[in-house]
Amino acid sequence: MKVEPAASVEGAIAVPGVKGISQRAVLLGAVADGESEIRGFGPAADTETAISVVRQLGVEVENGGETVRVRGAGLRGLREPEEPLDCGNAGTVLRLVSGILAGQEGRFVLTGDESLSRRPHERIAEPLRRMGARVETTNGGAPVLIEGGKLSPIRYELPVASAQVKSAVLLAGLLADGGPTTVVERVPTRDHTERLFREIGVRVTRRAADVRVEPVEQLPAFEVVIAGDFSAAAPFIVAATLLHGSELLVRGVNVNPLRTGLLVVLERMGANIAIFDRRTVSGEPVADLEVRSASLVATAVRPGEVPALIDELPLFALAASMARGESVVRGARELRAKETDRIETVTSALRALGGRITPGDDGFRVRGVPTRLKGGGAVSARGDHRIAMLGAIGGLVSREGVTIEGAESVTVSFPEFFDLLDSVTQR
Ligand code: S3P
Repeated sequence: MKVEPAASVEGAIAVPGVKGISQRAVLLGAVADGESEIRGFGPAADTETAISVVRQLGVEVENGGETVRVRGAGLRGLREPEEPLDCGNAGTVLRLVSGILAGQEGRFVLTGDESLSRRPHERIAEPLRRMGARVETTNGGAPVLIEGGKLSPIRYELPVASAQVKSAVLLAGLLADGGPTTVVERVPTRDHTERLFREIGVRVTRRAADVRVEPVEQLPAFEVVIAGDFSAAAPFIVAATLLHGSELLVRGVNVNPLRTGLLVVLERMGANIAIFDRRTVSGEPVADLEVRSASLVATAVRPGEVPALIDELPLFALAASMARGESVVRGARELRAKETDRIETVTSALRALGGRITPGDDGFRVRGVPTRLKGGGAVSARGDHRIAMLGAIGGLVSREGVTIEGAESVTVSFPEFFDLLDSVTQR
């Protein structure tokens, strides 16, 4: 797909519901008693995967696009499937459902696509084993085999800052007999699981680095409304910031502070982003964002900031390449454990755009100049939705445009991405 340069982006948009909350709501709804209703669901391959996996486990789901109804099977009511559970490209589904399955009687095999099979899953296997489940990975990756049953509570210090690992342990903690389960996280990661727990009446507390959940007898059915995904808004925010004369309104975005690190970093670089009409929707902070173009200066992203913009670091690299001076990211080794090794894929993408990036062990450096990138090359998405979106925005802000190989991978999180982008692009 060829993406031509743009003059500016203008208009008002809304983006699909938060992917991770959509997935969490389906998984929790699957073990609730009765029918749960999810509104503002973000339809995409990764969220549909959550639906197909719980269906394989015997749960009835009515998939009405943005409204999804889940008829829960009860806390211990999931059925052993005949076929392996195909988690596709969705790390959140594989890792979170593992926490639930660890507490179900039966034998479960979780598979995924090539990317998901290569990703590190020992990180969830290890704590779930300590809780009493039998869990086997395949050379550390998928397929993952789980034989669930009785679980005991643990206190678990996260070896990597990962909301997926935290969530897997907390979900298993709901099913653990005899006391609370505690996850210790030195650097806070996204707390969508904890907020959803609170919404439905599960007792979860946070004190300093300790996140603690009490086991439950049953989960009540619930209704939840999901706002727009900040990660889906992020490419538009970066495009509006970098293209002179842009003015873009993004309505109804989830602005959970553990997700919006890119806003903090862009503002430090001189971006012009107004956050207004703040409200709370189903226990999550939501706002409208107004973005105008601005000239940026370079910045350093510190290790402690990384979890709040981990999925936006590819876009940060693009913004940095048009910011005056040298920007740097450190403490982001986790980028190597994503859908692709994003230190590698961001480096090749930016170089194809004419950017000057030097990869490092746990991050990268970018030499920025406040002019359009040259472009003209080809960005290979390598099956990674975030790299495809990086390429698209890179094409808009370049002089010669860009070809994206594998542009269709945006369907993983945002099937309407290119249509929505077209609708605001001025040429
Ligand atoms: C996610 C957590 C992050 C993030 C991923 C979604 C979640 O992964 O990169 O896209 O929904 O909990 P880690 O928890 O592995 O860092």
